[in-house]
Amino acid sequence: MSNLKLFSGENIPLEMHKVRMVQKINLLPVEKRSQCMSEAGFNTFLLKNLDIFLDMLTDSGVNAMSENQYAAMLQADDSYAGSETFYRLEKVLNDMFGMKHFLPAHQGRACEHIIAQTLVKPGSVALMNYHFTTTKAHICRMGGVIEELVIDEAFKIQSNEPFKGNMDINKLNEAIKRHGKEKIAFVRIEAGTNLIGGQPVSLRNMREVSNICRKEGIKLVFDASLLTDNLYFNKLREAEYKNVDLFEITREIGSLMDIVYFSARKLGAARGGGILTSDDKLFFFMRELVPLFEGFLTYGGMSVREMEAMAVGLQESLDMDVISQTPIFVEALCNELLAKGIPVVTPPGGLGCHIDAKQFCSHIPQSEYPAGALAAAVFIASGVRGMERGTISEQRLDDGSEHLADMELLRLAFPKRVFTLSQVKYIADRITWLFSNRSLIGGLEFAEEPKVLRFFFGRLKPKGDWPQQLVRQFRKDFGESL
Ligand code: F0G
Repeated sequence: MSNLKLFSGENIPLEMHKVRMVQKINLLPVEKRSQCMSEAGFNTFLLKNLDIFLDMLTDSGVNAMSENQYAAMLQADDSYAGSETFYRLEKVLNDMFGMKHFLPAHQGRACEHIIAQTLVKPGSVALMNYHFTTTKAHICRMGGVIEELVIDEAFKIQSNEPFKGNMDINKLNEAIKRHGKEKIAFVRIEAGTNLIGGQPVSLRNMREVSNICRKEGIKLVFDASLLTDNLYFNKLREAEYKNVDLFEITREIGSLMDIVYFSARKLGAARGGGILTSDDKLFFFMRELVPLFEGFLTYGGMSVREMEAMAVGLQESLDMDVISQTPIFVEALCNELLAKGIPVVTPPGGLGCHIDAKQFCSHIPQSEYPAGALAAAVFIASGVRGMERGTISEQRLDDGSEHLADMELLRLAFPKRVFTLSQVKYIADRITWLFSNRSLIGGLEFAEEPKVLRFFFGRLKPKGDWPQQLVRQFRKDFGESL
């Protein structure tokens, strides 16, 4: 897909695919949407899909699949051990990253579990550009801690920095010196850095980090779940890669890393995951854990049909026409919102459009979860489901006090090649309405709070009757319209 210039001078994102299978969706009246939000404990994870108009919770496992992926599913070789499907998938991955060994796992966090069990010891520290929720949970579970070394610019909501996901090399050198290399479990680079707004890492930065890790004898782990968005920006924003094939770029990334792992719910547009390494010692250690926690070595807890779809999806993920739709749609939505003065993370990244709830709801203190409140309000205003990426997504500190997040973001994720441009315009319109009525949005507090990963199934309640006020204002402004 490309941003195509029209005769009128306007640029439009032009889809390089056609839609041949569709799913009907419902747009419920605003009163019903408010009721559903209340029944879901003001947690968008607890909404029912049938009540949602546009599901922008995540791109995980909900990307559109190609006809070739569906076709491949039919030739899946069902067997407990030695399935041909495994060998096909293994070959695709080995070629793609140039790495020797592949271990299958049922999804990204299962890979994180195996890697943490292998490399993290009580008291050790994992250095990374930025954490992801499940990554951190697995490292902490093994008694380790994480330390984030992303460049300071990453925390500026509005920025011109093309690679906000880069690791700060001075911080890395300093952290290695401070901890001593024996204490460092591994260094981790996350492609398309999720929690800071889907922000990419430059190849140059990966090379620098890899040189340091090799010199110090520290293992370098690469989370490739959001690789395709990262590749798009490597080509677009890094001059020396402008004319380099995506396959070559991916091979170079593989050559810099000791371990590559990924969620195939994102990379490969199927459902599954996997770990790659060329390090025999690491491979033999991790190999023992796969049958214990995942399944036999030739399926790792995945359905063979999904593995076939993944093998094709991975090859398609090196096609610029396929991978560019998300970042181009993210940019289109960000630009529509910015034009109305709505604060979003810039430059637009991959994965989704990220609204800064600290500014949008500047009247809500961080202890009352502005990003969670905004997620609930957006659903009431539009039927669009986003995801809170702020303090609710953090875990309380050991003494029970809140760990206030660096950023309070509402993420509106774009499942790959699922939505249309008129749907993007609808989202922008309803959020613009909400912005002009933002003083109505109030805070949230926990009603039921799980200890671990509380954002998944914790229940909250509003402070005051702000949802009802929002519904009344909506009716006043939109009349009978949905
Ligand atoms: N790493 C990154 C960067 C991720 O974004 C995710 C999942 C995982 C690891 C874990 O993979 O879900 O297959 O176990 N991210 C999803 C999201 C859940 O919505 O951003 P998983």
